[in-house]
Order: sequence, then C-alpha cells, then structure tokens
Amino acid sequence: MTQMEQGIERTLLTEQQIALRVRELGTQISEKYRDKDLLLVTVLKGAVVFLTDFMRTLDCHCELDFMVASSYCGGVKSTGVLKITKDLDSDVKGRNILIVEDILDSGLTLSHIKKLMQERGAASVEIVTLLDKPARRKAEINADYVGFVIPDEFVVGYGLDYDEKYRNLPSIGILKPEVYTG
Ligand code: IMP
Ligand code: MG
Repeated sequence: MTQMEQGIERTLLTEQQIALRVRELGTQISEKYRDKDLLLVTVLKGAVVFLTDFMRTLDCHCELDFMVASSYCGGVKSTGVLKITKDLDSDVKGRNILIVEDILDSGLTLSHIKKLMQERGAASVEIVTLLDKPARRKAEINADYVGFVIPDEFVVGYGLDYDEKYRNLPSIGILKPEVYTG
C-alpha cells in the first residue's frame, strides 16, 4: 500500500471511471465550442490535473489562463472568504469563457469568479466541474457540465488536496477522518 493509500478510507472514483467521464465531457463540450473563441479559465491548484486531461479531449481550439483563488485555509471547512492572489493575464472581454473546476462545494469561489468574468464583459461564461457536492451549496450557482455528483464527504486525489497533500493520487478517495482529526 502506498503512503497515500494509507490515508484513504475508500475509493470513490477509480482512474478508469474518471478517464471515461472526462472523455465524455470533452466530446460534449467540443461540439458546443467548435468555431468559437474559447478561453479555459482554471482556478489553481486543485483543477490542474482535471484540466490537463480534459483539454486533451477537446478537438477544438482553446486558450488557457489561470487564477489563484480560494475560500479554504488548509482545513476541511470553507471559511466563506474568497481571496484572489493571482488574477488572469488575459482580457476576457467578448470571449467565451469556460471555467474548469475540480469541485463545486459551497459554490462561493465559483459564484464570485463567474460574476467577475461577466462584469469584465465576457461574451459567455460556462462552468465545467469534475465533481459536484450539491449538499453543501451556499451560493446560488450550478455547473453547466458535471463529471460526477458526489456525497457530502471530504475527498482527495486527482488534484484535490488535504493540506496540500494527496493531489498526485491518481484516483479519488474519501480521506480517513483520523487524518484530519490527528
Ligand atoms: P467552494 O467555494 O466551497 O465551492 O470551494 C471550492 C474549493 O474548495 C475547491 O476548488 C477545492 O479546492 C476545495 N474543496 C471543496 N471540497 C473539497 C473536498 O472534498 N476535498 C478537497 N478540496 C475541496
Ligand atoms: Mg483546494
């Protein structure tokens, strides 16, 4: 058992399940954005693993840009405070934005970012999220494309972290409570 596997209570999504679903999302989204000016906006760091797999399933042109924003401070509960520490380099005015997220939880992060893109004059703003935890929603926001709806559990792997660890786990699993209760 690897060091990471020891912290996992059970696997929620295997590498194979994720790969299959990511490809389906890519096919669906390529249809929509073919011949459009598409800018993928990714919120670092959790979504990078999903982004790199997802973008290679798109068969249309796209550009990338990144933001660093979070409403989490190393714990497992959202503080509800959004902090932007790195903004986009691109001008989003008139462009079709697809926000690529790892997980939609309280929705506070994404509702703020979506509003910001609209205020900056984006032609359209859609959201693709690999995971959706609707049970914990605080903001009125939904993703346009969802990989998997998951139960209200703290998950790690495939980019998602606990205290910056477990991002490199290839599958997605539920963390053992003793990992965060110490
Ligand atoms: P929201 O603003 O509450 O929707 O928070 C979204 C962000 O919180 C995600 O991009 C993740 O970085 C983090 N997050 C939410 N739930 C989890 C989880 O179960 N595991 C790891 N990170 C999470
Ligand atoms: Mg995170």
